[in-house]
Amino acid sequence: METTEELRKKLNEIREKCLSCRKCPLFQTRHNIVFDDGIPNQKLMLIGEAPGYYEDMQGKPFVGKAGQLLDKIFASVGFTRERDVYICNTLKCRPPDNRNPLPDEKEACWEYLKAQIEIIKPRIILLCGNVAVQSILGSAGGITRIRGNWFPPESAIVDVYGAKMMPIFHPSYLLRNDSREKGSPKWLMWQDIQEIKREYDKLAV
Ligand code: URA
Repeated sequence: METTEELRKKLNEIREKCLSCRKCPLFQTRHNIVFDDGIPNQKLMLIGEAPGYYEDMQGKPFVGKAGQLLDKIFASVGFTRERDVYICNTLKCRPPDNRNPLPDEKEACWEYLKAQIEIIKPRIILLCGNVAVQSILGSAGGITRIRGNWFPPESAIVDVYGAKMMPIFHPSYLLRNDSREKGSPKWLMWQDIQEIKREYDKLAV
């Protein structure tokens, strides 16, 4: 098994390539490439949508309000970015006004996400929101219907190197739905993260 340092080295080679990327028009408006954060530890990867304003400014995924909520969700089961989770996005550059990524942008950027999955080969991939779900599972269904379910590697439309996958709500959606009542999106998210933790604890590596 590769060490974290070896994985970081391989990821850095891809990051370097990404830094000068001009494959889609988003390079014209970006302030920074948002490549990744957290630890490449072959266990748990989270794939989000695309950088927003704060991410574009800081060059780091999930640092705005949604990111702060994500950190709280992780902390509720004892996960931290530094020790437990590798975080990246479907797109590495911010779409103007945070609009949804366009098909051509996703296609152009796939090279980098593909490499991240291939290098890390995580055992668990969390698909955070509809954009990530569509990139990896295709038309498996809307997030409200499929969140909280485990999907086997064969159900992906791309090679996920044996990872099992769970779609989860995007934290931005939770910010717009504040109720914590039983059955609400936030309540469901708290169930899902506990299930993720149970599965994570079973991993030997
Ligand atoms: N939303 C995402 O999907 N990714 C980020 O990095 C920030 C907000």
